[in-house]
Amino acid sequence: MSDKEQTLSIIKPDAVERNLDNEIKEIFKNNGFQIVKEKKIQIEKSEAEKFYNVHQTKPFYNDLCAYLSSGPIVVMVLEKENAVLANRELMGATNPNDAQEGTIRKKYGISIDKNSVHGSDSLENAKIEINFFFKD
Ligand code: CDP
Ligand code: MG
Repeated sequence: MSDKEQTLSIIKPDAVERNLDNEIKEIFKNNGFQIVKEKKIQIEKSEAEKFYNVHQTKPFYNDLCAYLSSGPIVVMVLEKENAVLANRELMGATNPNDAQEGTIRKKYGISIDKNSVHGSDSLENAKIEINFFFKD
């Protein structure tokens, strides 16, 4: 038994810059995700710092926030049964070099930092992240 869930997905600047956003959205749809909300935006570094605050003690935090705010991104709410885990599986490992064949990061990721997509890592964080981008 499984329930429909929502998760937050971001197509990161490296992928939007290469005009891969429509192709990546098709992959989500072909894998049974419904894109229930989406917007293309560019965020301030201060907003990226809030979004990634769980990583504030990490050595890569500053570069990560600079990067996420460096260009347009596509932010989406994806819906499917077990969406959080299903999206993490479809994305693949954080480092594209470690990602399985058929995953988005394997196909499009350039490096561990330019890994093309973000996905919430738990249902609890999905709710927080969806609310962060889509307060209504
Ligand atoms: O995105 P994911 O949940 O797979 O990984 P994370 O551990 O939550 O890290 C967030 C993001 O930080 C990653 O997607 C990478 O873009 C970046 N990162 C990095 O630049 N260098 C690392 N050593 C680890 C993560
Ligand atoms: Mg994460």
